[in-house]
Amino acid sequence: GVANIGVTGMAVMGSNLARNLASREGNTVAIHNRTTAKAHRVAEEHPEAGFVVAETMADFAASLARPRTAVIMVKAGAPTDAVINELTEVFEPGDIIVDGGNADFHDTIRREAELREKGFVFVGCGISGGEEGALKGPSLMPGGSAEGYRTLGPILETIAARAGEDDSPCVTHVGTDGAGHFVKMVHNGIEYADMQLIGEAYDLLRRVLGYEPAKIAEVFAEWNTGDLNSYLIEITAEVLRQTDPRGGDEPLIDKVLDAAGAKGTGSWTVQNALDLGVPVSGIAEAVFARSLSSDPERRAVGQKLPGPERSVWIEDPHVFINEVRDSLYAAKIIAYAQGFDEIVAGAKKYGWDINLGEIARIWRAGCIIRAGFLDQITAAYVEHPDLITLLEAPVFSEALTKAQQGWRRVVATAVYSGVPTPALSTSLAYYDALRSPRLPAALTQLQRDFFGAHTYRRIDDEGSFHTLWSADRSEVSEG
Ligand code: 6PG
Repeated sequence: GVANIGVTGMAVMGSNLARNLASREGNTVAIHNRTTAKAHRVAEEHPEAGFVVAETMADFAASLARPRTAVIMVKAGAPTDAVINELTEVFEPGDIIVDGGNADFHDTIRREAELREKGFVFVGCGISGGEEGALKGPSLMPGGSAEGYRTLGPILETIAARAGEDDSPCVTHVGTDGAGHFVKMVHNGIEYADMQLIGEAYDLLRRVLGYEPAKIAEVFAEWNTGDLNSYLIEITAEVLRQTDPRGGDEPLIDKVLDAAGAKGTGSWTVQNALDLGVPVSGIAEAVFARSLSSDPERRAVGQKLPGPERSVWIEDPHVFINEVRDSLYAAKIIAYAQGFDEIVAGAKKYGWDINLGEIARIWRAGCIIRAGFLDQITAAYVEHPDLITLLEAPVFSEALTKAQQGWRRVVATAVYSGVPTPALSTSLAYYDALRSPRLPAALTQLQRDFFGAHTYRRIDDEGSFHTLWSADRSEVSEG
């Protein structure tokens, strides 16, 4: 075989990743696609890549130098399993199979074990950055064995995005088996929260201040020069500036059906957080907000329900805009803190050794959630590797301290104005819950003890106790 790496699956992510690989010194890339014509078309459209087109899986295997390295870029789920099966028929022990899709990490754990059993090296690799990232430099989150990373890592490092003063590649060995796909899942959950928070900020400026999209675009462009500097804020400004491509000067956003889609990774983040017992409330509200938006029946019923009688008078729009900005930043800090908590809990449950500072480092460029803010998270973990929560890092506790008063006014204004801000609100509730020296959980415990003898612990004694609610209400020790 003449190629040192192959890609199967020539949809846009796969072909762009293959082109990225081909553009790096020393790589010869074999490409394969289920319908062969597509692989030929990709090769014809990009002669500079010098692709070796494989017509069949057997050809694909033959075109690769041993030990073979192949990246699978097909739909997650059954299509990925089907391609893995085909590959194992023509590959040999020692070959490396990389799954670059948005796989469910449970599948990755299973596949890794099955393939290791057969002598293959399997690496589930999260890839973020969309089409452009795949082509020019994505953020890469590979799992699998450390031994697999020794071979694969150097190639991934050449195609990854670069960030920081040291221009370091946005890739690291995240952890064993499914760790890479787990971290990619949490990345997507954070992506959902980030997008929802931006949406809520937009909605507030639109509905409370009555600003037009083009004017809000300016606000976002301005925010992009400060703490909020990020890819998502940048594209938001561009999107809001866009008029209808079909003509006229109406903003495109006003022509688009307000029903958000989702491919599932955001809800996986929440499902797993529920199983792990980690509150990722910001992400959860973002997932629910998409579900609600895509429920026309209930929204039709909702049109008949009343809203607030008066609108809120904003004395100084600039003050309000700055408070919305600070609230967005504060809630974003909460969403990341919650996402990192989920990574810690996942690592503990699945036995991964995940370095959170490294995760922040590889998210600084290439991926959808790339942001100036990730430099700060990276620095926070370098300085304090044992942070219990991101909120503890001085840079973030100070930002929250600065934001919190305005954040309350923003959420209150949203409530009085009847503008839904589920993610901004739940993040503030999380902040206040963490701050509260006493929570009503003591009441929950007594209710549970009352109806189910579930017992409670006391602040002034060791052990578990039960009050004899339906007898003389004396307390008994439950060991
Ligand atoms: C990325 C993205 C990407 C994701 C899309 C669509 O990191 O490049 O997370 O992997 O598939 O953003 O996700 P939804 O369709 O679920 O919004």
